[in-house]
Amino acid sequence: MAVELVELVKAFARPGAPEVRVVNGVNLSVRDGELVTLLGPSGCGKTTTLRMVAGFEEPTSGTIRIHGQDVTRVPPYRRHVPMVFQSYALFPHLTVRQNARFGLEMQGLSAKDADARIDALAKAMHLDGLLERGTHELSGGQQQRVALLRALVTEPKVLLFDEPLSNLDAQMRLSVRAEIRAMQQRLGFTSLYVTHDQAEAMAISDRVVVMEGGKVAQVGSPADLYCRPASRFVASFLGEANFVPATVTRAEGGKVMVDCAFGALELSGEAGAKTAQLVVRPEHLLLGESGTSARVLSCTFFGAEARCEVELSGLTLALQLPAPDPDALPKAGDAVRVKVRTERVHPLY
Ligand SMILES: Nc1ncnc2c1ncn2[C@@H]1O[C@H](COP(=O)(O)OP(=O)(O)OP(=O)(O)O)[C@@H](O)[C@H]1O
Ligand SMILES: [Mg+2]
Repeated sequence: MAVELVELVKAFARPGAPEVRVVNGVNLSVRDGELVTLLGPSGCGKTTTLRMVAGFEEPTSGTIRIHGQDVTRVPPYRRHVPMVFQSYALFPHLTVRQNARFGLEMQGLSAKDADARIDALAKAMHLDGLLERGTHELSGGQQQRVALLRALVTEPKVLLFDEPLSNLDAQMRLSVRAEIRAMQQRLGFTSLYVTHDQAEAMAISDRVVVMEGGKVAQVGSPADLYCRPASRFVASFLGEANFVPATVTRAEGGKVMVDCAFGALELSGEAGAKTAQLVVRPEHLLLGESGTSARVLSCTFFGAEARCEVELSGLTLALQLPAPDPDALPKAGDAVRVKVRTERVHPLY
């Protein structure tokens, strides 16, 4: 296992206030070559967790192992787990090559060996034309790729990322994100990656750890978390979700029969309780000739899709219309019929 966090706790004392556990019993294993993302709202403890793995913050209790070795009390410079930040933290008065050499000199590599390694990696990252430039002569996206080069060239055991794309514009964010994922898969390095952007987490990760209030809410592949969220928090943090209350009438052989605003539905899954909340995504609802009666509250055109809000049996539901005709959109007040794609609906107990 590349990284293991066992019952990790970080408490901060504040004068005149009780101690707060900002990381509260986190357990996590990251396999070799995996990219695992910590995802969660502001203040849920993502950066603090990452800083403990890097060694910048000492855990209050718990254990951190890197490739089987207990590093809980090992100083950062002996862990060999560099971190790429939101601010690129490059040396502004040095060239790209000099920046990249820095960590290698610390490792005791000769200038010749260091340059050979830098040249090879810079070529792979399409940065070879920029090696002799000063870092102040680069765009934000280029600077972030140089920061990645500088970290990767030291051949780290594990690479940590804390919101590395937040300073980039929307387009640059997509291209650097794709580059990080491509490099990670090509070179096979292990990564722990922090973001609060769900689309970024879904695009880049093998597995996502959703955090809430210093704890792990759920761990899984992006598809697992989206299709089978374990709680309302996870369902609404990853994508948009409608919650439809339901009564379970029967359950057998991996099928659950429920009664809800859409009438009787047969869902896949196991029964957990007599009542459930159904997670119904906007794209699981369809307008058509048949279905449950509803009234349109609003409808907005976004090009590739339109989003409607409808009122159905006292519930306000968000609904997605794929490839809409902008001249034939439903209007507020229209009576419509709504069908639910039951095969995609997930019950929460
Ligand atoms: N040195 C510190 N002393 C006291 N409290 C701290 C310290 N560092 C962080 N905190 C608190 O711990 C909590 C978690 O902070 P952390 O930086 O880990 O959050 P985060 O999930 O990275 O959030 P964001 O998405 O905003 O970066 C916050 O409430 C923060 O105020
Ligand atoms: Mg943070």
